[in-house]
Amino acid sequence: MDSLGLFILLMLLCFQWTAAHAADEIPWTYKGLVGQTEWSDYFPECGGTSQSPVDVVTTQTKYDPGLMPLTPLGYDQHGNRPFSLYNNGHTAVIELPEWMGIGGLPWLFTAVQLHLHWGSGGPSQGGSEHTINGLSADAELHVVHYNSELYPNMSTAMMKRDGLAVLGILIVTGEETNLAFNNILNYLSRIRHADQKAFIPAFDVQSLLPKDLGRYYRYNGSLTTPPCYQSVIWSLFHERVQISKAQLLRLETLLYSSKSDEPDRMLLQDNYRTTQPLNHRVVFSSFSAESGKELSSGEVTAIVIGVMCGCVGLAVIVRFIVKTIRFFTLLHLETVAVNSSTSSWDVLHNNRPAPMPRLKEPEKAKEIKLDVALNSASVGEKKEEASPSPQTEP
Ligand SMILES: *[C@@H]1O[C@H](CO)[C@@H](O)[C@H](O)[C@H]1NC(C)=O
Ligand SMILES: *[C@@H]1O[C@H](CO)[C@@H](O)[C@H](O)[C@H]1NC(C)=O
Repeated sequence: MDSLGLFILLMLLCFQWTAAHAADEIPWTYKGLVGQTEWSDYFPECGGTSQSPVDVVTTQTKYDPGLMPLTPLGYDQHGNRPFSLYNNGHTAVIELPEWMGIGGLPWLFTAVQLHLHWGSGGPSQGGSEHTINGLSADAELHVVHYNSELYPNMSTAMMKRDGLAVLGILIVTGEETNLAFNNILNYLSRIRHADQKAFIPAFDVQSLLPKDLGRYYRYNGSLTTPPCYQSVIWSLFHERVQISKAQLLRLETLLYSSKSDEPDRMLLQDNYRTTQPLNHRVVFSSFSAESGKELSSGEVTAIVIGVMCGCVGLAVIVRFIVKTIRFFTLLHLETVAVNSSTSSWDVLHNNRPAPMPRLKEPEKAKEIKLDVALNSASVGEKKEEASPSPQTEP
C-alpha cells in the first residue's frame, strides 16, 4: 500500500509539473495531435464560453452610439530603432515599441505586438479568424495591446478581464499591391523557419490599418491561440484592407512551422482558429446599419451640392417671377402715362435679366458702368453733375 501511495503521489507531482509548464511546452498546432479540437484538453480556458474568433452576424449586432472612433497613438512615430520580426512556429510576430498605444477605449492600452493569420488556398479560400455573416476574408491582422492603466505588464494583463485590447483587421485580395504590407512581407524570407528572428526597418504601423477607424464591431472574447485567456476586448474593423494576390501568395507559402534543424519541413499555413459559439454574448457595432451602409462621404457631398443647387435654382425662379411681375406693372403704368421723357425702353433695359454669356470681372464692371451711364442719362443731367469726380483728390 505504501509503495502504491508513493507511486500515486509521484504521478500527481509529475502531472502538476507538466500542467505548470503546459503553456510554453505543449506543442499545439491547428491540425494534428494537439489540434484545435484538443486545445481545451491541455488549456482549459480554450473550452470557455467567451472564446474568439466569432462569426459576426450583422443583423444581430447592437448599435452602441457610445463607441468612439479608435485612435492609434504614436503608430506613425516608429523611430529609427529596427523592429524585430519573429517566426514563433504559429505566426509571424512584430514586437511593437511601448510608446505606441490605442485611445478610444475605457482605459489606455499599450501596444505589444502584431501578427497575422492566413490560409493556404489563395484568394476566397478562407484564412481570416473572424467571419462576417459567415464569410471569411483571405487573412487577418491582429494588433495586440495590454491595459497599462490597470496592469504592470502584458504577462499579468493577459490573464485578467479587460486586460487586453486587440484590433482585428480583415484582409482581402485585389489588383493593387499594398505597399504598407511589404514592410512585413519583404522580410519573411529571413524568418522562414520557426524560432528565427530578424531585425527589419521600422515603419508606420498605422499604414497597415483601414482608413475608417470609426466603424467597428466590439465584443468580449479571448486570445485565439492557447492558452485562450478570456481577457480580450475585441475591435473588428468594418472596413477591410486590400493586398494583391501575389502578396497573399507570399504570406501563404514562405514560412515553415518547423525549425531549421527538423528533417521534415512543414509549411506554416491555415493558422486560423474556427469561429467559436457566441453563447450569451452580444456583438456591438459603433455604427447603425442603415446610415452606415448607405452614405459614404462622397454621397453626403453629392446630397449637399444637390440641395444647394436646388435652393439656388428656386431663388433664381422666384427672382425671375418677381422681376417679371414688377416689369409688367411698370410697363403697364408707363403705357398708361405715355411719358415722353423716360422711354419704356430704358425700363425694359434696366430690368432685363443678365445677358447669356458669362462675363469676366472687368467686363462685368464695364457693363455695370454702362448701365449706370444709361440710367443717369435717362434720369437727367443733374444727377451727372451731383456725382463726385474721382480725379479731384486733396
Ligand atoms: C509583470 O508584473 C508582475 C507583477 O508586478 C511581475 O511579478 C512579473 O515579473 C512581471 N513580468 C514581466 C515579464 O515583467
Ligand atoms: C465586457 O464585459 C464587461 C464586464 O466585464 C462589461 O462591462 C462590458 O460591457 C462587456 N463589453 C461588451 C462589448 O460586451
